[in-house]
This record gives sequence, C-alpha cells and structure tokens, in this order.
Amino acid sequence: MNLKDLYIDFFVRHGHKQIPSAPVVPENDPSVLFNTAGMQPLIPYLMGQPHPYGTRLCDYQKCIRTNDLEEVGDTTHHTFFEMLGNWSLGDYFKQESIEWSYQFLTNDLKIPASRLAVTVFAGNDIIPFDTESYEKWLSLGIPESRIAKTVEDNFWIAGESGPCGPDTEIFYFRSDEEIPETFDPEDNRWVEIWNNVFMQYHKDVNGVVTELPNKNVDTGMGVERTTAILEGVKDNYESSIWKDVINLISEISNVPYDGEYKRSMRIIADHMRTAVFISADPSGIKPSNTDQGYILRRLIRRAIRHAKNLNIDINSDWENRIATLLLDKYKTYYKELDDNYQIVLEVLKKEKEKFNKTLEKGLREFEKAVRNKDAIDDITAFHLYDTYGFPIELTIELANERGISVDEEGFEKKFKEHQELSRTASAGKFKGGLAGDGEIETKYHTATHLLNAALKEVVGPDVHQKGSNITSERMRFDFSCDHKLTEEEKSRTEELVNKWIEEGLEVHVEEMKKEEALSSGAECMFIEKYPDIVTVYTIGDNISKELCGGPHVQNTKELGHFKIKKEEASSAGVRRIKAILE
Ligand code: SER
Repeated sequence: MNLKDLYIDFFVRHGHKQIPSAPVVPENDPSVLFNTAGMQPLIPYLMGQPHPYGTRLCDYQKCIRTNDLEEVGDTTHHTFFEMLGNWSLGDYFKQESIEWSYQFLTNDLKIPASRLAVTVFAGNDIIPFDTESYEKWLSLGIPESRIAKTVEDNFWIAGESGPCGPDTEIFYFRSDEEIPETFDPEDNRWVEIWNNVFMQYHKDVNGVVTELPNKNVDTGMGVERTTAILEGVKDNYESSIWKDVINLISEISNVPYDGEYKRSMRIIADHMRTAVFISADPSGIKPSNTDQGYILRRLIRRAIRHAKNLNIDINSDWENRIATLLLDKYKTYYKELDDNYQIVLEVLKKEKEKFNKTLEKGLREFEKAVRNKDAIDDITAFHLYDTYGFPIELTIELANERGISVDEEGFEKKFKEHQELSRTASAGKFKGGLAGDGEIETKYHTATHLLNAALKEVVGPDVHQKGSNITSERMRFDFSCDHKLTEEEKSRTEELVNKWIEEGLEVHVEEMKKEEALSSGAECMFIEKYPDIVTVYTIGDNISKELCGGPHVQNTKELGHFKIKKEEASSAGVRRIKAILE
C-alpha cells in the first residue's frame, strides 16, 4: 500500500470518515484562487457548522500554492501537492491526536522514533504554553531534548484571519549523518512532516482572537515529502511519485536526469502535473489572462519554454504523452481526471499551439532587447507579454539567466492599466447592448458597496465583508455579524441604501499605492490579493471607500430601488443578505 492508502486506512480504523478531496478551486471562498491546505474547504465546519459526515474526518486534498513559483526546480518545491489530513470537529483533542500521529509514524510507517523530534507552542500574552502537548510527547517517550518550544512557528492560521490555534509539528531527521542529541528546528537536516493544529480560536480581520464554539484538530502531512523520506531519497523527484514522469521526460528529450538538465526536467514535471489538475477541475478553468486561468497559462508556458531548453521538439506530442501518464497515474484517486481526460489533453494542446506560434519570435525579440543592456524596462517586459504572450516570470527567468534585471514594478503597473482599459472597453460594449446584463451587474457592484457601508452604520463598525456574488438577477453579500438582523435593522439598512441612491452621489475612482489606500481608511476584503497600485472607489463624501477592481456606475441614481429579499446565516459569525435592484 502507498502512503495515501495507509493513512486513510489508519484513520478509518480510528473512527474517521473519509471525505472526498474538494476541487482545487474553492467553491465558496473568493479569498484564495486555489485550495492551499486540507483545512480550507472545511472552514465552515471548523467554525461550528455540523459536517454531514460527522465529527471525525480524514482525506487527501489537492492543494496548489503558486507563491514560490521560482523555487520550483529544486528538490522539494512543488506547485501542486497532496495533503493528508485528519480532523476532529469538537470530538477528540490533543491526547488522541498526538497519540495517533505517533502510532501511525512509528507502527504503520515504521519510522524509528529516534529519527523524530517535535515542536510545541511556547506561549505568548494571549495563549499559554501548550503543557498538554508537551507532556503527551514526553509520555510517548520523546525525550525533552527532542522537544523544542517556539512561538511564531507553532501557531497556525491560513492567511490573516480565520480559525487558528497553537500547533505541534513533527520533524524527521533526513540525513545520513549522526542524529544530534538535541533537536534544533533551524537545522535543515530536520524536515517537518506533519503539523497538528489545535484549532480552538478564531482571529477576526481586526486581529481580535476569540474562542471557537468547538475545540478542533486540523492536521496536515505532505504526501510528496513524506513519500521521499520513506523511500530514502533526498530529491523528491527520485521518489516513486515522480520517477516515471522524469523517466518519460528523459526519454522524450533524450537527455539523462542529470546536472544542468535537472532543473528544466523538474519544472516540466511539476508544472505539467499542476496544469493537468487545474484543467481537470470541475470549475472548468481554461488558460486565460486573469485569475486561475492565468496561473494555468503561466504554468503551461513555463513548461513549454523548459521543454525547449531540453531541445524537445515542442510541436510534437510531448505534452500529450506526459499528461497521459499523469492522468493514468492519478485517475483512480481523483475521478475528475477520468471524467475530463480528453478535455485536459485538449486544453494543453491548444495552449501549446497558441504559445508555440509566438515563442520563437518572442525569444528573438528578447535577445534583441537585452543586447548591450543590463536591465529590461517596463515597456519591453509589457511588450513581451502583450505581443508574444510571455508571462512576467518567464521574462524574469530569461533575464536572470543572463544576470540582468527586470522592472517588475513598472510591468505590474502597465499590466494593471491594461486590465483597466479592457474593463472599460467591455463596459462600453455592454452599454452598446452587445451583452445585455453587464450594465445590471455593474449596478449590483456599486449597490454592494452601499450595502456594506449601510450595515456598518446600522449594525456597527465591526461589520466586514466576507464574500459577495453577483448575477444579473440579484446580489449576495456575506458579512461578519454575530446575530440575525432584526426587522428594524433590515429596514433601516434598506432605507439608508435607498436614501444614498436618491441623493444621486458621484462615484469617484482613483489609483494609489496600496499602503496609501489603507491609511486613508479604504476598506478591503483581502489585502494580499491586491497589487501594489490599487484602484479605490469612493461614493459621495466618503460614504463608502473601498479597494475594488470595479466596474461601477458613475452616479448612484442609476441604481433604481434597492430591496433586501433574504437575510440568513452563512456560517458561524457570518450572515448573508440577498438583495435586488428593481
Ligand atoms: N492546516 C495546517 C497546515 O496546512 C495543518 O493541516 O499545515
């Protein structure tokens, strides 16, 4: 049995229900482009909502992290990985969680306890030292010298706010050298393999920490890393997870997995696997120039460029052969790969053909641009993107290989301006009646800002936007609030929005630096999602001020009449309003 099967088998034996992996694109969480941890799809349940499968769950979850794309190519970084997880939703807590982790590692995986070490939460002003975990590890036979106490690295939260708590991390000594008596978490021969988070707190957007209704457990173990450890290899790509993919790339390119070729081969293997999983996702993502589609495009294009580095004939069916191997390998675990098998192959082929058309010319243009230069300016970087489809990191990578720099900030600015322009262009198109509902959606966008502002006034300043969704029929708005709105609160909110509409307030848009926008008091939901230069929409005399991509109406009188249709719970501490403009 492989690691995934062993893991699920163990936790099912210990009363857990296996839940299916959620799609890579989160279904109800606009704060992230992809699921980055096993717990992400479970947030509503960690917040207190009952889970239909009960209080003990386990799974393997598809995760995508693209924040350190340029690290991919080394022995350990991947853009896609599978995370094993077991959860207690107000069921067991530290004792069982630690005990089972220890048993699984030492009995089922047969890892010698002498190669293990752990960290526990040392305590701060708000949350005390985690004595219980510390004592539990001692009772299992982990010596004091192998238990380190830290603060920063032993508190886990996904991003800035949400369910969180102290954790205990388990490390494995991955080296042939003698195992030191005392564990030092900074010594990178010790690698973290499992993280057990004791999620009993919630941190809100203002940094206020409160207790969750339940004491939960959230654990996560990376399949790629742990498999490499169990198989005794130091390069993840030499483990059974990657070996066949690397061998195939070697066969196609006719070069060995060795020396200078290694990096390109790893990048192709990693990026192709992620591209396969994104294009097989039920969300139906296709390569494009925005959001998840742009990530997919960048991954495929970077893989193509590295295939070219290995002298692979990029017009051949190389991508099809690699994708077929990956699809066959993973389809028994992830049904969507089987369901969307042909779609995946088609997406990759089309994107390859599209990029192949301009890649050669783009590379020549790049060479011309860097001749006798020690930097690439924003205009050139943008030209390479706009005309030849070079994602910025491709230009950066090419430039780095020649030891020259790129005006990345300048590029981002141009990129943003360009997006604004296309948005305005499409808004214009809507007005011409080509797509009848664009205008309505624009109105709902502006109404969302007014509703946010009205709720703050009627319910209180602690109301913050948690999500929104707009169709041509209605708007949906999720916000933090600890109670069901009273009839009075609802009607006052409605009245206030309608008053602002009737007043005919101007909607003003300006661009500014992100920090400047925040210090001017502009609201925003997910600060990390915004580039350095942001667009801020202000309605009237500071009635509402929010970071937003738009589009918006120019004057609130265009909105008509606002009406709340429904107010309901969305998850613990989050309410949802559905409203219409008539
Ligand atoms: N959520 C924690 C992590 O990602 C444990 O799964 O490390």
